Amino acid sequence: MDNFYLTTAIYYVNDKPHMGSVSEAISADIIARFKRLEGKDVFFSTGTDEHAQKIEDRAKEEGIDPQLFVDKASKTWKDLFNMFGISYTRFIRTSDADHIKVVKHFFQTLYDKGDIYLGEYEGWYCVRDATFLKDSDLKSGKCPICGEKVQKINETNYFFRLSKYEKPLLKYYEEHKDFLRPESRYNEVMNVIKSGLQDISVSRKSFKFGTPVPFDKDHTIYVWFDALLNYLTAIDFLKDEEKFNKYWPADLHLVGKDITRFHGIIWPAMLMSYGLPLPKEIFAHGFWNLEGEKMSKSKGNVVNPIDFVKEFSKKAGIDIETAVDVTRFYLSKEISFGLDGNFTMDTFYRRYNSDLANDFGNLINRTTTMLYKYKDGAVPEEMVRDEKIINFINEQEKIYLKEMDKYNFSQALDAVWNIINTLNNYIQTKTPWKLEDNQDALSSILYTLLEGIRHITILLAPFMPFTTKKVLKTFQDDPASIKKMEWGQLKVGIKIEKLPPIFPRLKRETADEENGKEENFISHEDFAKLDLRVAQIIAAEKVQESQKLIKLRISLGDEERTIVGGIALHYEPEQLIGKKIIIVKNLKPRKLMGVTSYGMLLAASDENNLSLLILDKDVKEGSKIS
Ligand code: MSP
Repeated sequence: MDNFYLTTAIYYVNDKPHMGSVSEAISADIIARFKRLEGKDVFFSTGTDEHAQKIEDRAKEEGIDPQLFVDKASKTWKDLFNMFGISYTRFIRTSDADHIKVVKHFFQTLYDKGDIYLGEYEGWYCVRDATFLKDSDLKSGKCPICGEKVQKINETNYFFRLSKYEKPLLKYYEEHKDFLRPESRYNEVMNVIKSGLQDISVSRKSFKFGTPVPFDKDHTIYVWFDALLNYLTAIDFLKDEEKFNKYWPADLHLVGKDITRFHGIIWPAMLMSYGLPLPKEIFAHGFWNLEGEKMSKSKGNVVNPIDFVKEFSKKAGIDIETAVDVTRFYLSKEISFGLDGNFTMDTFYRRYNSDLANDFGNLINRTTTMLYKYKDGAVPEEMVRDEKIINFINEQEKIYLKEMDKYNFSQALDAVWNIINTLNNYIQTKTPWKLEDNQDALSSILYTLLEGIRHITILLAPFMPFTTKKVLKTFQDDPASIKKMEWGQLKVGIKIEKLPPIFPRLKRETADEENGKEENFISHEDFAKLDLRVAQIIAAEKVQESQKLIKLRISLGDEERTIVGGIALHYEPEQLIGKKIIIVKNLKPRKLMGVTSYGMLLAASDENNLSLLILDKDVKEGSKIS
């Protein structure tokens, strides 16, 4: 059986969990569940990082023994993860005895190899981020990451010869373009390596809470050196060789963008030094903000995930597990995984009402209501197969699998919603309620709908494990598996239990849902004023004396035009010819560097990339976009 070993970062226990931190565990859980759905043997590890100075400081503040403090705090995280359905194989704590053994052994080995040596450290330390900083790293005298005060340190420390691994790392990165994703993070780390690596301090003398250096009890091993090794301990390094060899190297380390460098530079260098293979992939995701602002305790805008879920479950009249699923769904659908996201109550309520209550929930309710009305709740026979709809579902399933493979959760969910929307339309167009005198047709339509729902539920299982389990049980098809996605596996004759509405529609006390808030919405009439068209590029050349502009000749089927776009930094003219793009046709003509543009091309951009909007299927030039 294929193995898949994935990890999350391990969480500092001094802070209470918030929606941003739990989002990483949820994303990892979605991947773990998806891989299991594919039949893989998954080892999924997560846990708590307990040896940081700020944790000891926090325990002192509360007047508790640090060990008691971390025991209690670690349990808070574990309980939270259990509540959110995080299906970890091991919940590791850096205070676990087997981990301490691994850390000591690893430190000793690198020392014996001459890669750790005693030196003098003079510089700064940020307690919050557990990071050593140079003068040149500081921003207005403060930590460049969190903006907090830093401590001056002047101590004898053990150093790790990171500089020795500069060239090997560079070579590795050049040969493994997918080692660190997304590409923007890969580039960031490459630039740091290229700018030169210096040896780093890997012990602290003035601080005792943690793992002591095995051959020098005056020193405590640096928290990051300690923490990174959790990825080895979790799969029984030094304890069970067979198990370790089965899962190492890890298939995926999922981490946030703030800790990319620790994972992309220090960790691989430590492994190179020891002589272990490097993980196959590190994926650095973005950060969740809250209502447009960075989540931070000092701003007081951290959402406690447990309180949030409890409150939402009360408001929506759903149980806690369903509310957890709604939250997991929202966090996966709302952003393109990898980029930053903005958690807002408004979008949360909207997604719930439109995607879950209106689309998915309604499809189930309407279908089971009809099943009870016409067939007494028993699955009827599929007399005639509707190949067109089955092909469409198969096609979307392929897209889903492809997107899930790349961790594009939102795009994978789009494919599922294409199926849901198509089946809702299918009910509208087939009007089964008018077919009581054509039982064969009625049976076939109901079967198509039920089998479609079964497929959708399997696809949603990684995202909404609690709800999908309940639905699949009523279909007598639990647990979910990709193998069960062949059309027609739903058993004829079984009775489908009628569930109460899973996602009852939520009434908002504030925003007027149906009409939308003035400030956020444009009317349909406003949108209709835009004439958006498919256009084929037939010629392209750079605009002279401009670095950014390209002049395009485009065809709209029955007419040709010139359009100028600021895309020259991202596209060569030759690669554009033949592409079908989207333009605004009825924009007032405008002169750019002496060339008149008759319309505007549409493109998406972030700080690194610009991409033209291109169609994913062939549609005739001149076609309208609505
Ligand atoms: N203990 C270190 C990691 C050691 S891994 C060997 C650490 N802990 S943390 O608690 O500060 O962060 C844990 C994870 O949560 C990190 O990957 C971090 O990027 C992520 N997140 C923290 N806040 C977040 C958001 N607001 N949004 C998304 N992820 C966030 O760093």
